[in-house]
Amino acid sequence: MHELLSPNQDQELLINNIGRFLILITAKASGKLYIAGEYAVVEKGYPAIISSVDKFVTVSVEASESEGTLNSNRFTDNMIHWNRENGKFQIDTRDNQLEFIIAAINCVEEYALQLGKKLSYFNINIESELDSDNGRKYGLGSSAAVSVATVRALSKFYKLDLNNKTIYKLAALSHLSVQGNGSLGDVAASTYGGIIYYTSPDRNWIINSLKKEPLFTIVHQEWPNLSIEPLDMPNNSKLLIGWTGSPASTSILVEQISYSKAQKLKLYEKFLKDSKICLERMQEGFLNADLPAIQAQISKNRELLTSLSKITNVVIETEKLTEMCNVVENIGQAAKSSGAGGGDCGIAIVPDNNEIIDNILTAWKEIDVIDLKLNITDRS
Ligand code: PMV
Ligand code: MG
Repeated sequence: MHELLSPNQDQELLINNIGRFLILITAKASGKLYIAGEYAVVEKGYPAIISSVDKFVTVSVEASESEGTLNSNRFTDNMIHWNRENGKFQIDTRDNQLEFIIAAINCVEEYALQLGKKLSYFNINIESELDSDNGRKYGLGSSAAVSVATVRALSKFYKLDLNNKTIYKLAALSHLSVQGNGSLGDVAASTYGGIIYYTSPDRNWIINSLKKEPLFTIVHQEWPNLSIEPLDMPNNSKLLIGWTGSPASTSILVEQISYSKAQKLKLYEKFLKDSKICLERMQEGFLNADLPAIQAQISKNRELLTSLSKITNVVIETEKLTEMCNVVENIGQAAKSSGAGGGDCGIAIVPDNNEIIDNILTAWKEIDVIDLKLNITDRS
């Protein structure tokens, strides 16, 4: 093994390999948390607000001679989710990180080939901070982050000089090819950093275009309904993230919602419309640095997700998440589940006031909700 000279984000390092200098390329991508707009954002053009958080996946790549290696600290202790399909035990391969890494490599190499680059061998190493020490997932978007970091590292390895939009698109294409559902909002948050207002692209358009045109052409076209705009937290506010300790599978939950929405179309359409109004008001709250307005829409979005849960019979706010939100509301602040729910994390947006924050964290501790102590990352 080579000795590393402490890699920094997106830095190329010279390392000494028995007298020879080799270039080690490293790239990072952050985890993410949904602030609001979940489930509605899966429909093309419907908005969500998503924050990236300061836990990262780091990918490093170095050239090798006639074969390559792939290493990840996630291949052991990898929790596999299973479900029943028509009553039959079924493993969900979409939770396998390796699938996302392979898809991201294939995507960048196809793009590089279409640019006339020559492909070569490399050793790739992946390190993820997005899971707890015993391998349980926090729900911070590790598959999206691993896709983005792999695309970033390999595009540097092939000297492709890509901007954020192109990195998002390549990671989104590869992520979509594995997961097959979802808004790709987690990919956007991991790529851009900070907080974003996001509307998801028309994934049917993407899939149909891929059948007709080269990847390179699709990546450089406008994607219908896609928008990604940066937002800032008001200065006087703080994002708190509490982990329930129980992992949930987003892809299974999104699938369950999509089965039952077809049967209750009218109510589902009302949910979409109301979610959009709520998110537009919340966006305005962020743009005006108006914490009470943001909090009002956090509570509204919580209500809307509860109504979606009733329409579809899918548990989004588990008992633990309900408890964690209620204690925050009892202190006069706003909280909701984050992301697909069913476990994972909840969030609260509160004034940056020690007394209020201490009260919330003490109340969370009493009900075994773990403060993840994460920060919003800077923009990439
Ligand atoms: O549970 P998470 O953090 O992976 O978020 C899922 C958010 C959904 O809107 C439910 C699905 C999606 O792909 O946007
Ligand atoms: Mg989740």
